[in-house]
Amino acid sequence: MVDKQNMIMEIQIFKTLQELNQSFTEWLQEILNKKESITIALSGGSTPKSLFDFWSDLPEGEIDWTKIKFFWGDERCVPPTDAESNYKMTKEHLFDKINIPQNNIFRIKGENNPENEAEVYGDLLNQEIKVVNGVPAFDIVILGMGDDGHTASIFPHEIELWNSNNNCVAATHPETGQKRVSLTGKVINAANNVVFLVTGENKADKIREIIEHPEESEKKYPAALAQPESDNLLWFLDEKAAGKLTGNS
Ligand code: 6PG
Repeated sequence: MVDKQNMIMEIQIFKTLQELNQSFTEWLQEILNKKESITIALSGGSTPKSLFDFWSDLPEGEIDWTKIKFFWGDERCVPPTDAESNYKMTKEHLFDKINIPQNNIFRIKGENNPENEAEVYGDLLNQEIKVVNGVPAFDIVILGMGDDGHTASIFPHEIELWNSNNNCVAATHPETGQKRVSLTGKVINAANNVVFLVTGENKADKIREIIEHPEESEKKYPAALAQPESDNLLWFLDEKAAGKLTGNS
């Protein structure tokens, strides 16, 4: 456990992706066992792909998928059939291989106008998720982190979007200009559990900065702003991503 300005965060480091995925799944099952149903916001990109493959290889019934309502923390503004689509990746690596009712899946419609979809999805969250103090509160928000310190689709060049008063915003990828729809910090930090799944050597510098120098990091990196009111902030890292941690935090 690391006390980051009184924010409790739990950091677990794994030799292999398999061990990371196994441990995260055991953690998820503990939560699932305690609840009738849970809401999860998924991350996109390549890291969760291996988790979804791990889940789809589990024995039938190992996880009762019907207890989970799936949402996304962000989506690329492309059709659901586009290679860039987080939904498409999740469908191919998970949904097509498990027993999950279609009405448990709430995709961000990347084919729609970004600003409109941000508003529509933000309203959908208020309908489909328990609202606490006026904010939809996920049971679990899974986040990845880019090597620039972005998370969901809040990028450093638009870090002010994190503090939007909306549930979701339209954002822009800094290099490609690709439009995105993303949860904001308001919703992310209202979650009961915020879990970062971060792997790869290219993330090691930012992981060290965010975990060991939180005050400076908060000014620059959206990932450093993930500080759930619940205090349940967990980092599942592989050894490469954790490779520059010095233990001074
Ligand atoms: C996305 C994400 C994004 C991702 C990071 C890390 O849609 O790309 O949700 O925030 O989690 O970019 O991506 P990798 O796991 O591919 O490094």
